[in-house]
Amino acid sequence: MTIENLEKRPDAHPARVYDYFIGGENGLEADRAAGAWIRMQAPDLLTTMQANRAFLSRAVRWLVQQGVDQFIDIGSGFPVSPNTHEIALRESPSGSVVYCDVDPAVGRRTRELIAGQKGAGFVLGDIQNPDELLAQPAIQALTRSGRPVACLLGAVLHFVPESADPARITAALREALPRGSYLVVSHIAGDVPWGDRNDEETLKRAFEDMHPRAREQVARFFGDFELVAPGVVLASQWHPTGETAGPHPESAIYGGVARRI
Ligand SMILES: C[S@@+](CC[C@H](N)C(=O)[O-])C[C@H]1O[C@@H](n2cnc3c(N)ncnc32)[C@H](O)[C@@H]1O
Repeated sequence: MTIENLEKRPDAHPARVYDYFIGGENGLEADRAAGAWIRMQAPDLLTTMQANRAFLSRAVRWLVQQGVDQFIDIGSGFPVSPNTHEIALRESPSGSVVYCDVDPAVGRRTRELIAGQKGAGFVLGDIQNPDELLAQPAIQALTRSGRPVACLLGAVLHFVPESADPARITAALREALPRGSYLVVSHIAGDVPWGDRNDEETLKRAFEDMHPRAREQVARFFGDFELVAPGVVLASQWHPTGETAGPHPESAIYGGVARRI
């Protein structure tokens, strides 16, 4: 296959291309081809996606250390190990993880993976309809438990345009969480320059459905929750460890964790 026709893969699926970037095996040949093309044209996209995934793993581990054993993972994506339930339920086997995504293909794949796994579930839902999503019984079982819940919004809010009012969506989610709960957000940065080794046209196309935001805008999604130090920072700089921060010290995605007090 030549470089020219690697690019033209209309049958590639954005969520599966992302899966390819973070080391998953859910993709088809078209997704791997499109992913390989993007990696060649804009290598920092790859490191950014990896930094995002590593941030989420560190955040879940940190939350488990704080005693949190209930997780709602919205925009969970195709499962790629370590998934939230693999980290959380290993430490707290009696805990609960509810995955949620708008994509039925993600739902099918996630349900296959978690079949028979006590404490793990999946609900199909759209973050743009937070009231409907929060009314789902599996989610209510956690939000009405009276115990802390961590709500993960990993690389999903940048798919929500301003016209869909992401501030309203995040406010509804925060409001539903019991005291002592946490909100985790990662979000493509709109105010971090991409290095010139990334092809502008490829970046433009990769961001076609995305709405990158500045650090201050991302910070506002936490509302009156108290930000855990170091606040909203590049995802690679949030509680870095030698193991997880490794090959991607810089990234164009923000990450933050905050607590309802
Ligand atoms: C880039 S993946 C992120 C996966 C995972 N959270 C992570 O950060 O590694 C984004 C996921 O958000 C999902 N998504 C996009 N818009 C959504 C919406 N309105 N409601 C729920 N999920 C959505 C997509 O289907 C996709 O699986």
